[in-house]
Amino acid sequence: MIIGVPKEIMHDENRVSATPEVCARYISMGHTVLVEHDAGEGAFFHDEQYQAAGAELVMGPKEIYDRADVILKVKEPLFNENLAIHEVDMMRPGQTLITFIHPAAPANHQMVKNLAARGVTALTLDGVPRISRAQSMDALTSMSTCAGYKGVLMGCNLLPRFVPQIFSAVGMIKPINALIIGVGVGGLQALATAKRLGARVFAADIRPAAREQAQSLGAQVIELNVPEEAAVGEGGYAKALTKDLLQVEREVLAARLPEMDLVFLSALVPGKLAPVLITEEMVKTMKPGAVIVDISIDQGGNCALTPPGEIALTHNVHLVGIKNIPGLLPESATSMFALNMFNLVNYLAKDGQFNLDESDEIVQGILTTKGGQVVHQGAREAMGL
Ligand code: NAI
Repeated sequence: MIIGVPKEIMHDENRVSATPEVCARYISMGHTVLVEHDAGEGAFFHDEQYQAAGAELVMGPKEIYDRADVILKVKEPLFNENLAIHEVDMMRPGQTLITFIHPAAPANHQMVKNLAARGVTALTLDGVPRISRAQSMDALTSMSTCAGYKGVLMGCNLLPRFVPQIFSAVGMIKPINALIIGVGVGGLQALATAKRLGARVFAADIRPAAREQAQSLGAQVIELNVPEEAAVGEGGYAKALTKDLLQVEREVLAARLPEMDLVFLSALVPGKLAPVLITEEMVKTMKPGAVIVDISIDQGGNCALTPPGEIALTHNVHLVGIKNIPGLLPESATSMFALNMFNLVNYLAKDGQFNLDESDEIVQGILTTKGGQVVHQGAREAMGL
């Protein structure tokens, strides 16, 4: 197959879909890899390294979209302002696209319909099921790991005080209290990072399994008084809580927020808007100088005041709503992403070509458009199809 690696065009996006090392792996399997000039610069992977790995460098995206059988991207297709053309309009019938598409999100509906209308086979990385045989292909998990780690560093950087306990000539300074709400993949990494920095860590989650994991990492668990049957659904995933149970949860959290310095929010139910767990009234009760890092902002945010894509100081609390946190850790995020992508491509390409088995759970999860149709179940429901 001819694999195309275009430069990402989203503002401030420093990641790229393949590293030189991963390109060498594709090439050793008999594929040709086209890499756009400067595609890896933002993650410190240079053109010469791609060439040394055997990739063919091309000057602009048009040649990649013209020649490649498969396009590998980090971000969904966007309008290319330099060329005044949308990336979807550079694609051709029969071509395959693999990237994060988030097809159920209303902002992406038209783009997904356009992909279908162009006859592109689009596969979305956010649909990789969390099952053990798909773990090595799960880029969302990798990116949540990056967001947990870097998000805590960003939060600590904004704090006006020391994170760990400090013994000084003027006495002992106490460590901060960090509360992680939603200890899934991102939250557990955030917890481990805050703990390593010397914070006292607290955790809250509605799933008992998540609470156990948080405890084993050294967190003090806050009991949310949500019964397990209301919290855990099929496959062990979290369920959306009823309005009443959400209110119970908010009351428990409200009692504990005034003692927290850093609050990391990563509570999510797959395919749903993020539950609002912290209201404006609750923010007002927090310590002056406290920080809230809300990584669920793409799904609307767990705090009612989080500014999408920005950092704001509101009621003396810093609120971090930065959306592309993994992009601020471009080398590690790219290395993990590129390997997840390689494992997925390798899984799908039997005998050197994609031959998608639609009875396969992984294919069912990621297949978004095919044969001119939008086929992704969540997207179809969200579009009313
Ligand atoms: P995950 O599904 O592994 O974890 C979510 C956790 O939230 C689960 O443990 C679940 O039980 C818990 N949860 C659900 N409802 C809850 C409630 N009412 N109260 C307390 N806990 C609750 O998700 P993951 O992969 O850790 O991602 C978390 C969020 O981070 C997602 O919104 C994801 O899109 C986002 N994310 C953001 C990035 C950024 O740059 N801002 C980058 C990567 C991920």
